[in-house]
Amino acid sequence: MSRPFKVLALGGDHIGPEVVASGLAVLRHAAEQFGVAVEIEEDLLGGASWDVHGTFCTDAVVAKARAADAILVGAVGGPEWDGIRIDGPITESDGLTRLRIELDVYNALRPARAWPALVAQTPYRQDVVDGADLLVVRENSGGIYYGEPRGREVLSDGQIRGFEISEYRTGEIERIARCAFEAARGRRGHVASLDKSNVMESGKLWRETVERVGRDEYPDVELRHLLMDYALFAVARAPRDFDVLLADNLFGDLISDLIAVVSGSLGMLPSATLPAAARPGHPVKGGLYEPTHGSAPDISGQGIANPIGAILSVAMMFEHGFGQPLAARAIEQAVDGALNAGQLPPDLGGAADTATVTQMVLHNLSSNT
Ligand code: IPM
Ligand code: MG
Repeated sequence: MSRPFKVLALGGDHIGPEVVASGLAVLRHAAEQFGVAVEIEEDLLGGASWDVHGTFCTDAVVAKARAADAILVGAVGGPEWDGIRIDGPITESDGLTRLRIELDVYNALRPARAWPALVAQTPYRQDVVDGADLLVVRENSGGIYYGEPRGREVLSDGQIRGFEISEYRTGEIERIARCAFEAARGRRGHVASLDKSNVMESGKLWRETVERVGRDEYPDVELRHLLMDYALFAVARAPRDFDVLLADNLFGDLISDLIAVVSGSLGMLPSATLPAAARPGHPVKGGLYEPTHGSAPDISGQGIANPIGAILSVAMMFEHGFGQPLAARAIEQAVDGALNAGQLPPDLGGAADTATVTQMVLHNLSSNT
């Protein structure tokens, strides 16, 4: 047997550790069921790390993450740590962004679909949302998040100026464009690339570069360009008109929350953020798997967080990290079964707690073989 896959689990803050516990239960169960050997280690990230180590992400965690085959993250942040001001790059004041940069995970895959059992939890009519299946491909290690210089300065008139820079190089755009085109080939063959090329220089470069990569390397994929503001309207209005949505770091952050509406709750959304394009049959080492939702301090400690975003992130880990698409499909079906059985957590209008939803998914997994 080959060596076990090493998984580093970083619960983070508030509901982060609660949903990661559910994700790990499903991970252990599916690994056993599909004969995948895994070795799991846990550590701290975010405010939890700050409280113990005085930094949001330690060098030791970075080293462990580099050695891991896959990293499962919960969520980071909370009001306790909001007031901490650290000058310099965002990587100093946010553990998750440090990890993303250290691992060079630039390819954030954030899928959202309409689940039949949840249509009533969405603001959509059935005929508008039924069958919606979207994938945001978000550039995740460049752009305005990391552009230098950034900071604050006091102007001569006494005002304070806060600033950051939006910048992209052709190489950064080319590599994320390829990720989107590759993803589209495994789906319905459409990419919509989002930008503000009407006002931003980096947006103009984005559009030209995506267009060139599409024309030269992926003529089989249908490509269209949309301005970001219009895209928000168009995707919200008719989500079924879209397949892959390619966007830079900031716009990808925005649109990935928007598409959660088709799933009924932000709590449903998983993600995989990889240091390479995802190709069937080519597992990628060192990917970060995390629910898209935040740390939800308002409901933490009550055991009522929706664990499905974390559980579906584990499905993405089996697919992209371990090369086990069948296990991924089985987890998704187990989730579908739990939803169909009406086991809905409060964010979806139900009363099922985190443990109940998780148990139901585990139960469905067992009976799926
Ligand atoms: C996300 C989050 C992060 C981001 C925050 C927590 C830094 O919103 O992963 O979508 O802005 O990238
Ligand atoms: Mg976000």
